[in-house]
Amino acid sequence: MEIVFASNNAHKLEEVRSKLPMEFIVLSLKDVFGEVDIPETGTTLDANASIKSRYVFERTGKNCFSDDTGLEIEALNGEPGVYSARYAGENCSFQDNMDKVLKNLEGVENRKACFRTVISLILNGEEYFFEGRVDGEILTQESGTAGFGYDPIFRPIGFKETFAEMSMEQKNQISHRGLAVQKLVEFLSS
Ligand code: IMP
Repeated sequence: MEIVFASNNAHKLEEVRSKLPMEFIVLSLKDVFGEVDIPETGTTLDANASIKSRYVFERTGKNCFSDDTGLEIEALNGEPGVYSARYAGENCSFQDNMDKVLKNLEGVENRKACFRTVISLILNGEEYFFEGRVDGEILTQESGTAGFGYDPIFRPIGFKETFAEMSMEQKNQISHRGLAVQKLVEFLSS
């Protein structure tokens, strides 16, 4: 069965393709539309995930899914949340975003945070949601160079390492996205 993953992120596509049973042929956004940029105008992760999967379904009628992720920091009232990609402004770098988080948490004792991923799946016209969450804390400085985004400043509960100090396999096993993808895969496989 063909299914569209509304993403062009090669890393995410590889992860999903490796986990889904053989009968699923996962197409990327590029495979279906060529160059396209879907505006993420929602104010929640669910809304943004939904916008992307509906975009594909309404134009192609194909089964599809999409994901949206945010880092939610308790002492910052859930920021950067749905705005995680552009927390420090349009076209900002991962470094700019981490710098802003560390600055906003200067002198703050409560470092609790979580990563949340929401997947919206549209299968035969019905929409389903799957969520993955990992709790942890924000360090006072960066540690590690692997991964991307906020990985160097996020340490999951129960671990000594930040996400940026883990191998991709180790991170995928416990990460927000890994857990959400696992739920999607179990649903599609059943
Ligand atoms: P997206 O919805 O997956 O594109 O994620 C939005 C933003 O959240 C990214 O641009 C990153 O800044 C951040 N992010 C998402 N997933 C991760 C992760 O696994 N580690 C660190 N940062 C992440």
